[in-house]
Amino acid sequence: MASPAQGQGGTTSSSTQTQTLPFPLPLQDRVAIVTGSSRGIGRQIALHLSSLGARLVLNYSSSNSSPADSLAAQINATSASSALPQAIVVRADISDPTQVRHLFDSAENAFNLPVHILVNSAGTLDPKQPSIADTSDESFDHVFAVNARGAFLCAREAANRLKRGGGGRIILLSSSQVAALRPGFGAYTASKAAVEAMTKILAKELKGTGITANCVAPGPIATELFFSSRTEEQVQKLIEESPMQRLGETKDVAPLVGFLASDAGEWVNGQVIRVNGGYV
Ligand SMILES: NC(=O)c1ccc[n+]([C@@H]2O[C@H](COP(=O)([O-])OP(=O)(O)OC[C@H]3O[C@@H](n4cnc5c(N)ncnc54)[C@H](OP(=O)(O)O)[C@@H]3O)[C@@H](O)[C@H]2O)c1
Repeated sequence: MASPAQGQGGTTSSSTQTQTLPFPLPLQDRVAIVTGSSRGIGRQIALHLSSLGARLVLNYSSSNSSPADSLAAQINATSASSALPQAIVVRADISDPTQVRHLFDSAENAFNLPVHILVNSAGTLDPKQPSIADTSDESFDHVFAVNARGAFLCAREAANRLKRGGGGRIILLSSSQVAALRPGFGAYTASKAAVEAMTKILAKELKGTGITANCVAPGPIATELFFSSRTEEQVQKLIEESPMQRLGETKDVAPLVGFLASDAGEWVNGQVIRVNGGYV
C-alpha cells in the first residue's frame, strides 16, 4: 500500500507546496474529492489521502455541517504551511446533477491544481432490512437515487473532468453484499451491483486517458450506516462468522483506496476489490 515513505522521487513543481521534502508524498499536488466524508468510511479515506499529500474536497449532504467542518479543521491544522488550505468542505447531494457539478466546480477552483481523484463513498440503505416483497417504492427509489444514480453522476463528471495523462483515479464504494447476497438488502445490493457493472465499463471507455476506474467493496464495517441496520444479535453473529473474529473498521478500508489512488495502483483497473477479512 502507498505510504508517505514510498515517495516517487524528484521535486514538486507547485509553488503552493512545501519545497523542502526530499521526496514528495505519493499524492502531493493532487486534488481528491471524497463524497460522504463527514463520517464513516469516507472520513477515514479522506484522512488517509491527506496523509499521502492530497488536497481534499470533503463532501456531505445533510443540514449538519459540523462533522465535515471539524474534519477540515483537523486536516488543515496538521498540514504544512501553505497559502492554500489542505481541505475544503462542499455540501452537495450526489443524487442531484446540479449539485454534483457544483462539487467539481468547487474542487477545480479551490486549489489552483487539477483534480486527479474521485472517491465516491456517499451511500445509504434502508435500516429496516426489508425483504424485496416488503420494500416500498420510496425506499427503493431513495436507495437507487443515492447509491446508483449518485455514483453515476459523480463518475460521469469525473470521466469528463479528471486530469488526463496519468494519475486520474475513479474509486467507487460498492459492497461485499453483491457477493454475499444476504436477504433483507435487495435494493441496496442491486444498487451496488449496478455500480460495479458501470465501473467495469467505465474503465474501458476511459482508454487513453490514463484514468483508472475501480470499485472497493467492503464487508461489515463498524460505522453509523452499519449499526443503524443491525441488531446486537446480528452484529455478534457477523463477528462469529468472520475469519478475523471481528467487525471491519474504517482503517481496514482506507489503505486500499490510498494504494488505488497512487501511481503504484495504475495497473489495477476495471476491478472490484472486496475488502472484508474473508467474509465472502
Ligand atoms: N459500513 C459498512 O458496513 C459498509 C459495507 C459495505 C459498503 N459500504 C459502503 O461504504 C460507503 C460508506 O458507508 P459508511 O458506512 O461510511 O456510511 P455512513 O457512516 O452512513 O456515512 C455516509 C456518508 O455519506 C453521506 N451522504 C449520505 N447521503 C448522501 C448524499 N445523497 N450526498 C452526499 N453525501 C451523502 C453522509 O453525510 P450526510 O448524512 O450529511 O449526507 C455521510 O458522510 C457507502 O457507499 C456504503 O454503502 C459500507
